[in-house]
Amino acid sequence: MAGRIPSSWMDELYARTDIVSVVSGYLPLKKDGRRYWGLCPFHHEKTPSFSVNSELNLYYCFGCKAGGNVVQFVMEMERVSYLEAVKLLADRIHMPLPELQEDPDYERRRSQRERLLSANREAARFYHDQLWTEAGKPILDYLHNRGLDDGVIRKFGLGAAIDQWDSLTEFLTGKGYTQEELQLAGLIVIKGDHAFDMFRNRAIFPIIDQQNRVLGFGGRAMGDAKPKYLNTADTPIFNKRKGVYAINLIRKARDLKRVILVEGYMDVVAITQAGVVGAVATLGTALTNEQARLLKRYAPEVHLAYDGDEAGQHAIERALGIFETEDVPAKVLYFPDGLDPDEFIRMRGLDAFRAIRPMSPTAYWMQRLRLQYELNTQEGRTEYAKACAELLKKVKEPVELENYLELLSVQTGFSREVLIQQIGVSHGEKQGQNNPSPARETITPKRQRKADGYRTEQTLLALLATGRLPEGMVKETDFTDQDLKALAARLIAGETPAAIISDAESDSLRQAAGEAFSLLTEGEKDHAADIAADCLRNVQMLHIQQQIQAMTDLMKTADSPEKRAQALSEVTVLSKELAQLKQQGR
Ligand code: UTP
Ligand code: MN
Repeated sequence: MAGRIPSSWMDELYARTDIVSVVSGYLPLKKDGRRYWGLCPFHHEKTPSFSVNSELNLYYCFGCKAGGNVVQFVMEMERVSYLEAVKLLADRIHMPLPELQEDPDYERRRSQRERLLSANREAARFYHDQLWTEAGKPILDYLHNRGLDDGVIRKFGLGAAIDQWDSLTEFLTGKGYTQEELQLAGLIVIKGDHAFDMFRNRAIFPIIDQQNRVLGFGGRAMGDAKPKYLNTADTPIFNKRKGVYAINLIRKARDLKRVILVEGYMDVVAITQAGVVGAVATLGTALTNEQARLLKRYAPEVHLAYDGDEAGQHAIERALGIFETEDVPAKVLYFPDGLDPDEFIRMRGLDAFRAIRPMSPTAYWMQRLRLQYELNTQEGRTEYAKACAELLKKVKEPVELENYLELLSVQTGFSREVLIQQIGVSHGEKQGQNNPSPARETITPKRQRKADGYRTEQTLLALLATGRLPEGMVKETDFTDQDLKALAARLIAGETPAAIISDAESDSLRQAAGEAFSLLTEGEKDHAADIAADCLRNVQMLHIQQQIQAMTDLMKTADSPEKRAQALSEVTVLSKELAQLKQQGR
C-alpha cells in the first residue's frame, strides 16, 4: 500500500502534520521536557506512560509498548487501514491525495463537501434557535411532554422544523447557499419551480459525527403523522450505513466500559438525560457491519438495548450475528413488557435500568429457544435440550458452560452428565462433514522475553539514532538481535528514525524501533559517545561470556583429550580479554 504513494508526497504529509496536535485530538497531553505525555489509549492505566515525540513524529507507550508514527496512531485509534489513515490525515490539512492532485475535480468536490457541511451546520443552528420562538413552541412542548428537559435538548442540539413550507429555504438562500447545494445536502426538495423544506412540523435530531460535523438530520413527526421519522437520504457527506447517532458524545466519554446500542434517536436522548453514559443508535436502518466496527473502537463491549417487542428481538438476533462476525463482544439488555429503553427508564427509573443484567449471547439464545418449545412435555424438553446442546458447543469457558448446564438441567430435568454427553455427541456428528473448528483465539504476548543483553543493544541503537556518535563507532555486527541489527543497518545507511518507523516492514520491527528510539532522555543524548562506549564494552563482554560458556560446555562433552585441551586454551584467552574489558570499565 505504502509503495503506491510517492515518498515525496508522504514526506510532505509528515512535514505538515504535527503528531502532537493529532494525538491531542484524542487525549490530553502534557509537556515534560521535550516529550509530551498522556494516559495511553491502548491500555488501561492511571499514570501516564504514553509519550509523544514531535521531532521524531513518534508515539510510544512505556507500559504496553504500543508505538509508531502518526499514521499508525490514526490506524489504531480509528481502526482503519494504512491508506485510510493517510487519507484522514491529508484531509485534515486539506492536502490533496497524490492520485487526485492532478484531478481538477478533486478541489471542486472538496469545496462542495465543505459547503454542504457548513449549510448543515447553519441549518442545525437555525432549527435549534427556532425551538425557542413562538412558531417553534408546539415542538418544544412536544419535547417537554416526552420528558426532555432544556439541558438535554441543548446537549443534543435538538431543534424545531416549524410548520411552514420554506422557512429554512428562505434562511439559507439568504445566507448565500444555492438551491442546488441545499438540495444536494438533503435540506430542501425542489418540485417544478418550487423549493420547499424537507423537514416540516417535526422535532429535529441533528446527526453529528466524531469530528463534530453535522452530517444530516432525523425528524420526528408531531403526533401520528407519517412517516414517524424522516431521515436525511444519502448525500455526498452522509451515509446512514456508516455512522451512528450520538457518536460525537461517545467520543468524549473516557474509559467507556460499554456502548449501549438502542434503536431510536429518542431512546438515546431519554436515557442520556436519565444519566446513562454511552448510548448510541443506528440511523433509521438495521445495524450494518461498518457500524459494528465503528462501535468497537469506542468501548470493549456493546450492550444491545433494543425494544422489548418481537421486532426488537428479531433485530437483536440479527445484530448479535453481525457483532459475532466483526468480533465485537456483545451482550443483551432485555426490557420486559415490550418496552423500549425510553419508556422503561421513564416508567421504572435509572436504578431499574442499571439493575438489568446484561445477558451473554448464549444466555439470550437459550431464552429465545425456550419460546419455541413446549417445556411442559417430555418431547418439548428433549428437543429444547438438543437445540441448547448445539448452542453450548461454542462455549469455551468451562465455568460459563457449567452455569448454562445447571440452568438447562433445571429446565429440562436431564442430568448434567447426560447434557455433556449430548454436547459431545452433536460435536462428534459434525466433525466428519465440517471444517475443524477454528482454533481458539490466542492472545499474542506483547513482546517475547528478550535475550540477555537486549537492553544494552537497544540502548546502543537509540544512541545511534541520535546521530551524535562518531562515524563508524557502532557497527551492524555489534548487534545480535535480528530486529535491532536490521534497524542499525538502516540507521548506518543514513535513514532517519522517522523514515524507518514510517515504513517498517512488520509490526515487530516498528515496535522494536519505537521502543528503542524512545529510550533516551535529553541528558543521555548529550553524553551519547560516552554511553555508547560503555554499551559497546558491555556488548563485547557479553559476547565473550557467551563464548566462554560455549567452550566450557564443549570441554564437558568433547570426545578427545586434544579437543578438550583446545577448548581450555581458548577459555583462558577469552577470560583474559574479559578481565581487560572489565578493567577498562572502571
Ligand atoms: P421507533 O419507532 O422504535 O422509535 O423507531 P422510537 O424512538 O420508539 O420513537 P418514538 O419514541 O415513538 O418517538 C426506531 C428508529 O427507527 C427509525 C428511526 O431512526 C427511529 O429512531 N425509524 C422509525 C425511521 O427511520 N422511520 C420511521 O418511520 C420509524
Ligand atoms: Mn419510543
